Amino acid sequence: MTDTLTIRRPDDWHLHLRDGAVLQAVLPETARHFARAIVMPNLVPPVVTGAEAAAYRDRIRAALPAGMAFEPLMTLYLTEETDPADVAAAYAGGLVKAVKLYPAGATTNSASGVRDFDRVRAVLERMADIALPLCVHGEVTDPEIDIFDREAVFIETVLDPIRRATPGLRVVMEHITTRDGIDYVASQGDDMGGTITTHHLVINRNHILVGGIRPHYYCLPVAKREEHRLALRKAATGGDPHFFLGTDSAPHLDALKEHACGCAGCFTATNTMSVLAEVFEQDDALDRLEGFVSLHGPAFYGLPPNDGTITLSKGAPVTYPAKIATADGPVTVFDPGFPLHWQVSQ
Ligand code: DOR
Ligand code: ZN
Repeated sequence: MTDTLTIRRPDDWHLHLRDGAVLQAVLPETARHFARAIVMPNLVPPVVTGAEAAAYRDRIRAALPAGMAFEPLMTLYLTEETDPADVAAAYAGGLVKAVKLYPAGATTNSASGVRDFDRVRAVLERMADIALPLCVHGEVTDPEIDIFDREAVFIETVLDPIRRATPGLRVVMEHITTRDGIDYVASQGDDMGGTITTHHLVINRNHILVGGIRPHYYCLPVAKREEHRLALRKAATGGDPHFFLGTDSAPHLDALKEHACGCAGCFTATNTMSVLAEVFEQDDALDRLEGFVSLHGPAFYGLPPNDGTITLSKGAPVTYPAKIATADGPVTVFDPGFPLHWQVSQ
């Protein structure tokens, strides 16, 4: 039986670090295990221009504790006013690795996102020309569409039309939660990738709703039926290079999660690698963990995999803090609901 596993140092291809006190507290939770992360731009106000991304990158670097190494891969928040030349310059200078599309109103801090996709056509065309990836929050916002159907409807009515209209555009469908998303991404060429979160491999919608509302399992896109979770598991553990880890670790203060209108987001940075090792072991796929967390993402983004390694060792149940303290209040760490046995050592 395998009880240690050494893999290339992983990256997180979708991460929320926030700013200020929360950034300070959560950054070490990711940097402890991950070399790089695609950092989401949905601050208030959002990170729209190259100059704003450079300033945010500097704040992230300043928040990194001495002795830790971590490279933030910056993104720009796409608005209907985004200037294609600013985007191209930020990419050419190496600052920005992706542009993020939030349909307006789809999720946390998405009010400045896109309503009319024709108004971002010039930016998307420029991105296709220069091979700058578009990261997509794949949910429609039409109030008529059931929340559990919003991802599937987005693929048909927004994602596929955008890709057909913009040949060559590299697109990541982020935090896939449905079999429909998996099937779509898997059927496309190597200009299409998909990220899968840690928590969507573990929870289905029952975890949120049965026996009382569990706000710490509420995120967007919301977890779906069990059959969808199983499709995600199969894709993540199956070795298809279209799929790679994007934790969508999304810290919110407990006071705002445990609330009459609780925020969306699961905070998984602290125990993601232990949870994933457990999941891959359960599916008899530990040999595919490295591809999912350390190889497929760099290949999609045209970056080298990391030189360093991490070692996971199996033993007595792993302990980790239930909450991370921040100067603004605690943030609850994702509870997978089963014991974890894989500990990360460097
Ligand atoms: O659950 C989520 N939380 N989904 C998102 O798309 C945004 C994120 C956040 O920023 O909190
Ligand atoms: Zn996110």
